[in-house]
Amino acid sequence: MVESRLRQEARSRNATIESILFRLVNAGGKRLRPALVLLCGGYGGVDQKRLVPLAAAVEMVHMATLVHDDVIDDADYRRGIETTHRKWDNHTAIFAGDYMLSKAFQMLTQYTEFSDASMMAKTFKLICEGEIEQYFTRNNLNISIKKYLTRIRYKTAMLFAMSCYLGASQSTIPEWQKRALVMYGMNLGMAFQIMDDLLDFKSSEEELGKPVTNDVRQGVYTLPVIYALKDKNTGERLRNMLSDEKKSEYRLKEIVELVKRSGAVERAALLQQRYHDKAKKAIRNLVPNTYTDALQDLLLFTAARTK
Ligand code: IPE
Ligand code: IPE
Ligand code: MG
Ligand code: MG
Repeated sequence: MVESRLRQEARSRNATIESILFRLVNAGGKRLRPALVLLCGGYGGVDQKRLVPLAAAVEMVHMATLVHDDVIDDADYRRGIETTHRKWDNHTAIFAGDYMLSKAFQMLTQYTEFSDASMMAKTFKLICEGEIEQYFTRNNLNISIKKYLTRIRYKTAMLFAMSCYLGASQSTIPEWQKRALVMYGMNLGMAFQIMDDLLDFKSSEEELGKPVTNDVRQGVYTLPVIYALKDKNTGERLRNMLSDEKKSEYRLKEIVELVKRSGAVERAALLQQRYHDKAKKAIRNLVPNTYTDALQDLLLFTAARTK
């Protein structure tokens, strides 16, 4: 139902907008955020039909961030196909992202309380703050783990938490249960972004459907790099390698190898696991049912994901 709703919402009197939205929707994606809306609402006994437009709206917000993020990260592929700015141009991608965001808010204000739409607006502001902070600290070799964690909380985990909130807030479950679901989403989101940053080192473009090694290429130093920079055996060499802002493909390979050899990828995986555990803990006191089972499964799925 969410898929067909997305297709319906992709229609526009403007042929370019329509084709951009259709391509994005049809290219798939994991649809994690809509799943969170459906599961958290489902846990509270909300009719799934009522949740469908909200789940579609959350995916629309997510897709808007992706289209803009790919302009900023200069990424050529997403969901296995050429990115919007690559197929059209940057200006078109910016318009399309804005359009999707407006569309999402139109849906939210139509199908849920004003306060929920306002919460989504706040979430979106935080995503922007996370992305802006990341942009302005690129090539900074002194970024701390704390700063990194705040950044990923803003740019990614908040939307996961918001998706859970949106589903749960349609129901009449007790406040503490709503909070538990939101905490689940937040911690899942943290683990998810750490995994995304690991995959940028470990995976391939074919598997991910988006570029790899792109974070270092863009001067965005994520958890594996931060750990490797702190390592007494690799720190100094890595610092020297990274200090050139323009990095050749050969240099990039060297950097990736050094980070991997330092054990930083494994250390990052440990922190990711901690967030997964926190997410699991957050929902342990909920009333067990098929929805809590599915939320547990979702944790396993994201911990084992390769794309
Ligand atoms: C990509 O999100 C952006 C991040 C927060 C890492 P997803 O990995 O959920 O992207 P799709 O929706 O499956 O394409
Ligand atoms: C997440 O960061 C992007 C957003 C929150 C929009 P990334 O830049 O790591 O996401 P990918 O790797 O491009 O999907
Ligand atoms: Mg990106
Ligand atoms: Mg990434």
